[in-house]
Amino acid sequence: MTRATVLSGLGTSLPDSVITNAQLAEALDTTDDWILSRTGIQTRHVVDASVTTGKLGLKAAARALSSAGIKQIDAVILATATPDFACPATAPQIASRLGLTGAVAFDLSAVCSGFIYGLSVASGLITSGIVNNVLLIGADTFSQTLDPQDRTTRAIFGDGAGAVVLRAGEISEPGALLAFDLGSDGSQADLLFTPNMPRIAKENMPESYYFHMNGKAVFSQAVTHMTNSVKRVIGKIGWNSSDIHRLVPHQANIRIMAAVADQLDVEPDRVVSNISEVGNTVAASIPLALSHGVKHGQLHAGDNVVLTAFGAGLTWGSVALRWPDISNSSR
Ligand code: COA
Repeated sequence: MTRATVLSGLGTSLPDSVITNAQLAEALDTTDDWILSRTGIQTRHVVDASVTTGKLGLKAAARALSSAGIKQIDAVILATATPDFACPATAPQIASRLGLTGAVAFDLSAVCSGFIYGLSVASGLITSGIVNNVLLIGADTFSQTLDPQDRTTRAIFGDGAGAVVLRAGEISEPGALLAFDLGSDGSQADLLFTPNMPRIAKENMPESYYFHMNGKAVFSQAVTHMTNSVKRVIGKIGWNSSDIHRLVPHQANIRIMAAVADQLDVEPDRVVSNISEVGNTVAASIPLALSHGVKHGQLHAGDNVVLTAFGAGLTWGSVALRWPDISNSSR
């Protein structure tokens, strides 16, 4: 019997504080109408200075463990671009706070593609027999890297965390991960980058501490890479677009998601989206969208699901899976 990786638990965590478009418009030269019509975003959650990526990730992780009904975990992977410290990684501290001292634990840096990269790495660890299960967390506090005066990035990004438990199982089980596609193009790193890494953003930091984004160029790259990546991943398992029950794209911009779905001939009602409530939450984007899909009855056990993401690096990737029968543990 071929050993497969099976998704078996899901949990999320969002910071309490919510910023509306109207609140942004009070401080910046923007409007609710501009943000909503250009991005599809209405609100985003943001941390206060006392909450780190590690703390948000820990909450989501504990909820994923309870959703999976598993206590013993062999490996903890944290996908993030905003770890608590430049060194060491944040994952070992999350592991020890969960009582998992001794587990394999490391951070993974692929920005908005981090969760998809993480699924692939976790699956490699499981199917090779190195570990029997993995707790994968996607968490970011990207608000802390934004220039307070940048109306574009502040409109788009929010904070959050999502986590899943992955375990060894069989390919025929609901929840089995079926195919992967990953890629990168470092020659375009300058489209999205943060030169230095502050943990907590402050007013008047040097320019080099803020995230920089070429929105227009990123838009077309995101559409191209997510579309092509989905085509490749479904091609590996002989699916056509019509076989996809649910497409769960990285929540970058409602218009990017619509363009990807359109190019793939996936109707809007097959696309899971929570961008209006949370914005772009970087590595947390896909698990938060999955949680939204479960909560709103859009994901059912046995559904053919395709996850796809694109992010800074540039990086991109997709995963095809059969949706498991799991409960959703959210904030
Ligand atoms: N409010 C009002 N105006 C804004 C604004 C805001 N919040 N943000 C940007 N603008 C302005 C720009 O300054 C620019 O003005 P200019 O033409 O005078 O220079 C104009 O809007 C840009 O207009 P346009 O290019 O038509 O916007 P757009 O439709 O491309 O939308 C983005 C801009 C950033 C929303 C869009 O390009 C985008 O979502 N890109 C991808 C970003 C992304 O996904 N990043 C993460 C990838 S993982």
